[in-house]
Amino acid sequence: MAGFIPQSFIDDLLSRADIVDVVGACVTLRKTGKNYSGLCPFHQEKTPSFSVEPDKQFYYCFGCGKGGNAIGFVMDYENIDYPQAIESLANSMGLEVPREESAQLQQQREKNQELHDILQKASSYYQQQLRRHPDKDSVIKYLKNRGLSGEIARDFRLGFAPPGWQNLLEELGNTAAAKKNLLDAGFLIENPENKRHPIYDRFRNRIMFPIRDQRGRVIAFGGRVIGDDKPKYLNSPETPVFHKGEELYGLYEAKQRVRKLERILIVEGYMDVIALAQNDINYCVATLGTATSTSHLKRLFKLVPEIVFCFDGDNAGRDAAWRALQQALPLMEDGRSARFLFLPDGEDPDSQVRKIGSKAFVDSITKATQLAEFFFENLCSQVDMDSLEGRAKLGTIAMPLIKLFPDGLLRRLILDQLAKTTGVDLVTLNKMSGTSISAGELHPYAPKHAPSEPTVPVKPHPDTSNSTTRNKSTHSACKKAVNLILLKPGIVNSIEVDDTAIKQLKSNDIDLLFEVIDLAKKFPTNSTHELLGRVYDTPIGSQLIQLQDREQITPPTGIEKEFKEIMQYLAKIAEREALIARGKQTFAAKKL
Ligand code: UTP
Ligand code: MN
Repeated sequence: MAGFIPQSFIDDLLSRADIVDVVGACVTLRKTGKNYSGLCPFHQEKTPSFSVEPDKQFYYCFGCGKGGNAIGFVMDYENIDYPQAIESLANSMGLEVPREESAQLQQQREKNQELHDILQKASSYYQQQLRRHPDKDSVIKYLKNRGLSGEIARDFRLGFAPPGWQNLLEELGNTAAAKKNLLDAGFLIENPENKRHPIYDRFRNRIMFPIRDQRGRVIAFGGRVIGDDKPKYLNSPETPVFHKGEELYGLYEAKQRVRKLERILIVEGYMDVIALAQNDINYCVATLGTATSTSHLKRLFKLVPEIVFCFDGDNAGRDAAWRALQQALPLMEDGRSARFLFLPDGEDPDSQVRKIGSKAFVDSITKATQLAEFFFENLCSQVDMDSLEGRAKLGTIAMPLIKLFPDGLLRRLILDQLAKTTGVDLVTLNKMSGTSISAGELHPYAPKHAPSEPTVPVKPHPDTSNSTTRNKSTHSACKKAVNLILLKPGIVNSIEVDDTAIKQLKSNDIDLLFEVIDLAKKFPTNSTHELLGRVYDTPIGSQLIQLQDREQITPPTGIEKEFKEIMQYLAKIAEREALIARGKQTFAAKKL
C-alpha cells in the first residue's frame, strides 16, 4: 500500500545516478570508445554484446534485446518492480523516497505497518520458544526426525507456539492497541462463551511456519501439530496483509537462495518446500491449501520461463494436474514451458526426496511430462482412439481448449499433432479453432504480404469481408506495435500514415494502440521504464506491463522501420475497410 512516488523525485534520482556506476556495480564493464561494454547479465554469453551509453544514460543488449535506464536495470537485475527499484536505487545513494498519499491510504498503511510489526514480533517469539521452551527438546527431535537441520529451520524461521491458552497474548498483547493488532493479525480467537478464556491464542502447541511475502515480510503463519492430532495444519485467517489465494509459500526463500531462478516447482505443502530445500532443491513453492490459480502462474512466469507442477500419481492427483493445466493454457506463450511431475502412489515430495535422494529427484523433475504430452494423453484417455467416432470426438473436446492457447508456435504444434492424431486436416482444424492463418504462414502479422492494392472485392457482399481474419491480423499488428513503442517510445513521432483513418477501425486493440501512442507523445522519452513508470499502478500501466514482450529481438535500428511498416499495414486495412463500407452503402442504396 505504498504511496505515490512523486515524478520529480524519480527525475532527480535518475539525474543523480550514473548508469555506468549502477550497472558497473553488478557487471564488469570495459570502456570501448565513449561507451562501455561487458557480458550481459540477462543471458548466457561468451563475448560481450551488452553496452552502456553514458550519454543517453541507457543500457542495451544486442544479444537479448534488454535495455533501459538505471531504474530499469535495477528492476531486471534484482527482479523487483518499479517502486522497489526506486527504493533500492535511492537507498544505495543514501536518499529517502518521498511518498504522497491520501489520508485514508496513509491510515491503512500505518495500520498494515502495525500488523507487519506484530507479525514479525510473533515470529521472533516463536523462534525464541523453539530455542528456550522447556518442551523444546521433543519439538527439535520431531524436526530432526523429519530430516531437517538446524540451519534449514533457521533459514525458514521455523518456530514453536507453546502449549497454553494465552502465551502470545501475554507476551505481546499488553496494551489495548497491541491486543487489537494481535486480533487483527489473526493470532487471537474471541469466544465469549468460554468463561475461563474469552479470548485465547489461535496457535497452541504447534510448529510454526512463517509465510513471507515477496519482500520478506512475515504476513501469516501455518502451524502444524506435533504428532497426529487434527487439524494437522492451522493457518492464519485472511487479514489486510494476508490474502491466502494470492500468496505462495517459499517464494521469498527461493528468491533468496537462488541467484537466478530458472524454474519453479509447485508442490502442495509447507514441509515439501522445506524438505526439498534441505535436499538442495531450492526453487520450490507451495500454494496455501488452495488450487494453483492463473494469478499465481502469472506471477511465477514473470520470474521464470519454466514451471513444474508436482502431483500425486493417483487419480486425484491427475485431476488436480488437469485443472492446473487449464489455468496454465492461456499463459503458454512461446519461450515458456509447463511440466507435470507425477509422484509414485503414496509419496509426497518430502517423502520422495528423502527416499530417492536429491539427484534422482532433480532427474525426475528434468524428465517431467511436457504440457503438450499430458494434454494429449489426458484427452485421448477420454475417448476411444480406435474408432472413427472416438477420434472425431477428440477433435471436438480438444478444440475449445486449444482456443485458450495464445497465438504462437506451441498452439500450432498442438494443432499439428491433433491433425496427425485425428486425421482431420489442418485447414479444417484451423477454422474450428478460430486461427485464421494458414499452416505454412508463421508470421503473425504480415506487412510484406499486405496487399499493395486492396484485394478484397469491392463488390459488396457481406460474406466476402472476412472479419475474423481482419481482427486476428490487426490484433497481432497492434500488439507488436505497442511492444515496439515500449521498446523505443520515441518512434511514435515517425508515424507517416493517416492515423485518423486507422482509428476508424475501432477495436479494443486499436484503442489501446492509440492510447499508448498518445501516452508516448505526452511524455517524450526513449526509455521503456520511464514510460512505464509514468503510468505505473494505472489500468493502462498494468495492461502494458503484461503486454511487454520478454523476448525483444528486434535490433534498435530496426524498431522504427518495423513500426512504420505496421502502421502502413494498418492504414491499408483501414483503407480496405473504408472501401468495403462505401461499397455496402452503395449496395444498400441500390437495393432501395
Ligand atoms: P498434507 O496433508 O499433504 O500435509 O497437506 P503435508 O504437507 O504432507 O504435511 P506433513 O508432511 O504431514 O507435515 C498439504 C497442505 O495442505 C494444507 C497445508 O498448506 C499443507 O501444507 N493443509 C493440510 C491445511 O491447511 N490444513 C490441514 O489440516 C491439512
Ligand atoms: Mn508430507
